[in-house]
Amino acid sequence: MKTRITEMLSIEHPIIQGGMHYVGFAELAAAVSNAGGLGTITGLTQKSPAELANEIARCNDMTTKPFAVNLTFLPTFQDPDYPGYIQAIIDGGVKVVETAGNNPAQWLPMLQDNGIKVIHKCTTVRHSLKAQSIGCDAVSVDGFECGGHPGEDDIPNMILLPRAADELEIPFVASGGQADGRSLVASLAMGADGINMGTRFIATQDAPVHENVKQAIVNASELDTRLVMRPLRNTERVLNNPAAQRILEKEEALGKDIKIEDLLDEVAGVYPKVMTDGEVDEGVWSCGMVAGLINDIPTVKELIDSIMAEAESIINDRLAKAL
Ligand SMILES: Cc1cc2nc3c(=O)[nH]c(=O)nc-3n(C[C@H](O)[C@H](O)[C@H](O)COP(=O)(O)O)c2cc1C
Repeated sequence: MKTRITEMLSIEHPIIQGGMHYVGFAELAAAVSNAGGLGTITGLTQKSPAELANEIARCNDMTTKPFAVNLTFLPTFQDPDYPGYIQAIIDGGVKVVETAGNNPAQWLPMLQDNGIKVIHKCTTVRHSLKAQSIGCDAVSVDGFECGGHPGEDDIPNMILLPRAADELEIPFVASGGQADGRSLVASLAMGADGINMGTRFIATQDAPVHENVKQAIVNASELDTRLVMRPLRNTERVLNNPAAQRILEKEEALGKDIKIEDLLDEVAGVYPKVMTDGEVDEGVWSCGMVAGLINDIPTVKELIDSIMAEAESIINDRLAKAL
């Protein structure tokens, strides 16, 4: 399949794996890229630029195909060395960066002068237009259903994608709620040039996370996510668990006086415990409503091949015959 995104990124299929904290290691990024999509290493999961350089080198050993690095600019407890991370990305020969969380304008010259394409992840049309105006090469439009940070406007992809298509000139991928060939065809129909998936890629054999995490996603339905940290305007969609319930109780009890410090037990340092040790109730972790569409744990190649086969059959059989 050829779209503006496959052409821009020199990939076979219009399927991107979004950056995911403690999930986007070289193993997953390489598996996605080897299967013809675009895999992504999560920059800030690596504690220093030197460790990111090492992760990029490991990925380069596992694939000759293009892959991306995600750079997230969200509130963190320490200030990351972004120039150092970007230098590691340039030195590692990475050709695509997914930015997220905040305006990436100050980093664009350093990235683009080194031939790196920048895909900025946005949750609104307004932010997508801003990304286009500052010179981003593409955007990833993340609907309200997405795992992680859906923003504060709560517009689901059924509305957000055609709105983005109406306004944007640069290519964009649909992110949030994407799982299969039906998602891909629907997103293309609404004007996107491909899809970006997070949660679906965690429940694969290649994802280097504990089996408990994969099983929790398979067991979850579309009713099993919650929005936490809304009063802090740092809303995150997470899998419902006792930690999510504790946060919601604190949010109700403390109201607008709540501070991030009140939630440290549920959010700080949780990802390695969940993703690596499999302690899935140790704190809150991002998960999309799409969990309701995930019932198996295939290899990444099986998943991507099945998405493409299903998309082709929907277009050639179901849709063509409806005319
Ligand atoms: C466990 C998990 C961790 C994530 N971590 C990040 C991150 O560090 N940076 C980022 O930009 N997006 C992050 N995301 C968001 C994904 O890149 C992607 O935009 C989102 O998962 C898409 O929605 P979906 O889960 O419905 O596919 C994360 C998502 C999940 C599920």
